[in-house]
Amino acid sequence: MTRVKLGVLISGRGSNLQALMIAAQAVDCPYAVGLVIANRPAAEGLALAQAANIPAITIDHRSYGEDRESHERHILAALEAADVQLVALAGYMRVLTPFLVEAWSGRMTNIHPSLLPAFPGLDTHRRALEAGVSEHGCTVHLVSPQVDQGEILGQARVPVLPHDDPQSLAARVLVEEHKLYPKCLSELTKILAN
Ligand code: GRF
Repeated sequence: MTRVKLGVLISGRGSNLQALMIAAQAVDCPYAVGLVIANRPAAEGLALAQAANIPAITIDHRSYGEDRESHERHILAALEAADVQLVALAGYMRVLTPFLVEAWSGRMTNIHPSLLPAFPGLDTHRRALEAGVSEHGCTVHLVSPQVDQGEILGQARVPVLPHDDPQSLAARVLVEEHKLYPKCLSELTKILAN
């Protein structure tokens, strides 16, 4: 089986990256993580990739000042040089410009910690608690030029419990993120192959 080469963009901890790398160890996983790019040299996920012998590089956005497109041109060049076919944003904390989004249209995904369209943007767990919702969760979606608005590929739900705080709710959602993202990427990989 030829596996689709996945590029993963991160900014920090990298637990979703780790979940994708673990899932890719299965013999029947249709993708392999081929490159990890961080926009911050301190991103903890870089070490996780290196420990798994996956090429991991930093393309530091601070080197490009206000020129977001120039930063993204370098990201695109690195993805292309590594023959990446599908890109997963996994805790990548920068809003992309249309340049990179359009270059990967239909082939770039994101995981967001809410049941979109509810709670796009940041601080989703606190906002969900303040809104008094009984259910919360996470969403995997295609990346579109409008932040957190691309086609939804899958969602996972968790109950909001009476004594939840943002941390306890985030932890319960994260467990689901780690199952949902590999599942959605496997499905998308198979769809793109047909
Ligand atoms: C996750 O909650 C993800 O949904 C959001 O950012 C967080 C990244 O966590 N986009 P990690 O770096 O994958 O651990």
